[in-house]
Amino acid sequence: MRKKIVAGNWKMNKNLAETKTLLSELKTKLKASSEAEIIVAPTFTNLYSATEVLKPSGITVAAQNMHEAENGAYTGEISADMLKSIGVETVILGHSERRAYFGETDQLLAKKVNTALQHEMTIIFCFGEELQDRKSDNHFSVVEQQLKNGLFHINKADWKNVVLAYEPVWAIGTGETASPEQAQEMHAFIRKTIANAFDQEIADEVSILYGGSVKPNNAQEIFAKMDVDGGLIGGASLDAENFTAIVNAI
Ligand code: PGA
Repeated sequence: MRKKIVAGNWKMNKNLAETKTLLSELKTKLKASSEAEIIVAPTFTNLYSATEVLKPSGITVAAQNMHEAENGAYTGEISADMLKSIGVETVILGHSERRAYFGETDQLLAKKVNTALQHEMTIIFCFGEELQDRKSDNHFSVVEQQLKNGLFHINKADWKNVVLAYEPVWAIGTGETASPEQAQEMHAFIRKTIANAFDQEIADEVSILYGGSVKPNNAQEIFAKMDVDGGLIGGASLDAENFTAIVNAI
């Protein structure tokens, strides 16, 4: 059976003290019995202490990005090996903010995917259409292209290290969510696309998260959809009570 996952993408929020406080609150509030795997992605400077604070809790830590090269003259960048050396085994790749503000293309993401897989990291691969794509009814083909260009070169065996996060850009940080029906429709399309390109078993096993203004008051109806296996949460993951409520909505 495929895994249920709720991941918090903290983006560029929380200094070290604030990170420790939020993690301690999460540790107390989130029950180990939760049906979902829980992941948090603080910023780079706080990843190491996050792994330390969370050690006995079962909550795991992800990075929000990484560089595709092994090492070298890439000022300001972070490698897969650096992440793994501090106990970070999961990385978010392809977030729409990386695509929009930092020029990350499908081609670059394909390289990052390869590097992460070579290091046996788990990838949370993000993709999703912009508002104009949906308005012009191109959302399915945009999503299909993003998947094909960034991810579909991998081997069948690598899919066990991949989690997908469908995040329509128009729903991120805007307070506007895809309706549960829109999310289900796209998630079913994604699964069918994977089944066609790879096989049904891989399509059935991969977890597909929804992201974009998931809040305590809408999480349950979104998570209830058959092909939605959890969420990638931005704003609401910065507050222990809200994030806990979302995890408990699984
Ligand atoms: P949001 O962000 O929940 O604040 O809309 C989601 C994301 O960017 O992953």
